Amino acid sequence: MSKTIIVSNRLPVRIAKENDEYQLKVSEGGLATGLGSIYKQGDNVWIGWAGLDVDKGDEAEITNKLKQENLCPVYLDPEEIQNYYEGFSNETLWPIFHYMSTYAQYEQVYWDYYQSVNEKFKKVVLEIAEPGDIIWIHDYQLLLLPQMIREALPNTTIGFFQHIPFPSYELFRLIPWRAELLNGMLGSDLIGFHTYDDVRHFTSSATRVLPIQTTANVIHKDDRNITIDAFPMGIDAKKFNDLTHTEAVLQEKEVYNQIIGDTKIILSIDRLDYSKGIIQRLLAFDKVLSENPDYIEKISMHMIVVPSRDNIPQYRDLRDDIDKLVGNINSRYRTPSWHPIHYFYRSFPIETLSGLYSRADICLVTPMRDGMNLVSKEYIASKTDETGVLILSEMAGASKELIEAIIVNPNNLGEMYRAIVQALEMPEEEKISRMKNLRETVMKFDINHWVKIFMDQLAAVKNHEKSRR
Ligand code: UDP
Ligand code: G6P
Repeated sequence: MSKTIIVSNRLPVRIAKENDEYQLKVSEGGLATGLGSIYKQGDNVWIGWAGLDVDKGDEAEITNKLKQENLCPVYLDPEEIQNYYEGFSNETLWPIFHYMSTYAQYEQVYWDYYQSVNEKFKKVVLEIAEPGDIIWIHDYQLLLLPQMIREALPNTTIGFFQHIPFPSYELFRLIPWRAELLNGMLGSDLIGFHTYDDVRHFTSSATRVLPIQTTANVIHKDDRNITIDAFPMGIDAKKFNDLTHTEAVLQEKEVYNQIIGDTKIILSIDRLDYSKGIIQRLLAFDKVLSENPDYIEKISMHMIVVPSRDNIPQYRDLRDDIDKLVGNINSRYRTPSWHPIHYFYRSFPIETLSGLYSRADICLVTPMRDGMNLVSKEYIASKTDETGVLILSEMAGASKELIEAIIVNPNNLGEMYRAIVQALEMPEEEKISRMKNLRETVMKFDINHWVKIFMDQLAAVKNHEKSRR
């Protein structure tokens, strides 16, 4: 019997030491839920980094705990975390793939560790994989892994999905190891991205950098065919929809309403990241208050920033900039009974997010670049009363599907300002009509649909390859 092996940089659990014992906290993330239907069955398994620097002596205990959940850890030491995860993944690939090339570092040592950690993942995969298995690799931290596995198990079915954008060739070509990265990805049978633009950018880079041929969305290389396609990822929409009716979430909303009354809430939720456009969003909100004093005490921004990658200088600097700007705006506009911005630098449980999503009058999602952006979809799935307005950056993959949102260019401060005012003043019927359409899209094309279409196409391309031989 063949099995399915999922591989990603992080496992879908958080491991934390409490009272001298390791505890597993299952992730609420969409990917974990969607792939739950796969990895939890039979001999299937999910391989990934345990997410923390573990003492050698504790590894056996953690491995055992994870095994019971069909999870298999890859342990990274502090140098690997620094050079592979923070270094090449997040200081080289992340800025280039998000069009922030001036932030990119091209350190040989980062690249050396990126290769050796991809090798480390390969070894763990090969301890488990057998001929005939299906291997589904996720995201930019593991671009070399498909080809590494292909060399060891030539007939294995390998799918790869990239959750972040694939940049235009003019950006991608800046990376000194561009050919190696493309060769690594092309070890797959099927490569998926969120949007057709990513597919186009990838195919164009591959054709310019490598001696390959393409026909439509198929790349021919070493007598193999590799299919490249777009699979826009959905969320666990039913979960977000149903959560809004639970006792815990109704209570959360009750508490907000007591505190904030009928103040209109503009919601902003992101990981701390320069790709998310947090500063630009604050500047637009500042402009709304400065040009419309009537809104003072009538609206407020609820801003959650989840700590992320805080060893990387640009992330630390961004945090300082946000602190300063929030302080500046609050000090200029606040009144004895009102704060313009409620800012939280922490993460929240899903019930709190659900309460906020369903209470918020506006959700402001304005990344400078984003592969998909799940927050925008979670907001829509939580709007069971069909009100609320989504303002969405055209640079987020989600903007290709969520066309009834107010779509903005996050670099255009005037446009962002007008979008916020338009959302605040929008007639109820228009809000409902837009939200109804948005909800149809998000509820239908959910995470289960995404997993199914990717896996079905992976099986189809492999069958086609087999019949060719
Ligand atoms: N999120 C969370 N806790 C929080 C705030 C956000 O778990 O306190 C989740 C949110 O529900 C969403 C994810 O973080 O599923 C962010 O995904 P998105 O695609 O928007 O951005 P990413 O962080 O992957 O770049
Ligand atoms: C994005 C990436 C994921 C990554 C996540 C959180 O969604 O596509 O691969 O896991 O951000 O980032 P982190 O560095 O904390 O894993």
